[in-house]
Amino acid sequence: MDYSVFTAQSPAHNDFRSDTFTTPTLSMVQALSSTSLGDAVYYEDDTTKLLEAKVAKFTGKEAGLFCVSGTLTNQIAMRTNLLQPPYSILCDSRAHVYVHEAGGLSTLTQAMPMPIYPKNDKYLTLEADIIPNFTPDDGEIHGAPTKLICLENTLHGMIYPLEEIKKISKFCKENDVRLHLDGARIWNASVETGISIEKYCSYFDSVSLCLSKTLGAPIGSVLVGDKKFINKANHFKKQNGGGIRQSGLIASMAIVAIDENLSKLKQTHEWAKEIGKVCEEYNIILEHPVETNFVFVDLQASKINPDKLIEISDKYKVKIYSGRISLHYQLSKESLESCRKVLIEVIEEARKNPYEGKGNMKFYTSENN
Ligand SMILES: Cc1ncc(COP(=O)(O)O)c(C=O)c1O
Repeated sequence: MDYSVFTAQSPAHNDFRSDTFTTPTLSMVQALSSTSLGDAVYYEDDTTKLLEAKVAKFTGKEAGLFCVSGTLTNQIAMRTNLLQPPYSILCDSRAHVYVHEAGGLSTLTQAMPMPIYPKNDKYLTLEADIIPNFTPDDGEIHGAPTKLICLENTLHGMIYPLEEIKKISKFCKENDVRLHLDGARIWNASVETGISIEKYCSYFDSVSLCLSKTLGAPIGSVLVGDKKFINKANHFKKQNGGGIRQSGLIASMAIVAIDENLSKLKQTHEWAKEIGKVCEEYNIILEHPVETNFVFVDLQASKINPDKLIEISDKYKVKIYSGRISLHYQLSKESLESCRKVLIEVIEEARKNPYEGKGNMKFYTSENN
């Protein structure tokens, strides 16, 4: 077999659109050859069980459930956390579970979404955001009682302060509310703060952790919780067509992704902070502070024409197609330098021709490639 495609520079070396664009490495593909080949739907695959146990151990939870995507782990987690409608789910109005999961939150859980934009622009706080929007299950029949709160860490690259998580968790326990974490990038939060993943997860009933984002596995996410919860979640996984037969193949690659790439995340944060500094130096306005591996340029406030951004990115042979600049471990030094040049040229262009329209969101498009 010709492995050159896996040893050559990754096609993601110049791609700043998302940390999902990373490609499998040679060691991931080599892991395939020693994987087990059991049927995971029948719970007969050792490599899948190994991955589930590994992530469960990281998080300090009893059990894990390997799924194809973070959308599936989030969706079945929300469904499993809820019992008898009517009820509502309270979350950040920018949360992935609310904005980017094809409306699954409503259709799969039958819950009324209660999206809240945080008063501090960064994260929901108990006092300012959650308590004022909380609907108690007190017999009053007009509202839909809050039965689940979903937090996201990191959200747009921002880290949720542990002290706030603690307060929210305590409130949930006292009020019979379940707490789910979309921890797609909890790896990044932990690496940046030094707070263990286990510590973060100890405050949640369920956590979804992605393997195909920042860690670079080609496929997969793991949902963790206690055994009873994971057994039920597995039921919903099957119901949603999420059963994978010989999942050892992809689980083996995900194990390599954790083992080899977790230690590389800190570097991606440093790169993001360097890009953040360039923005500061050139008065490019950011939507959020840079805390981990994302830089969110506020195109509208910076009066940057989104089409010009794409045009100039193409000129420098990098893919930056929106204000969201994502840093991942497969970026090359040359691309990072090009990213810097793109930002400088784009803002100089904006100074000459300030763009007054709305910044568009060409997040995932590959047109103009
Ligand atoms: C915060 C967050 N949660 C969940 C997901 C969903 O993951 P997937 O694309 O694997 O469905 C994503 C995807 O980008 C995400 O950024």
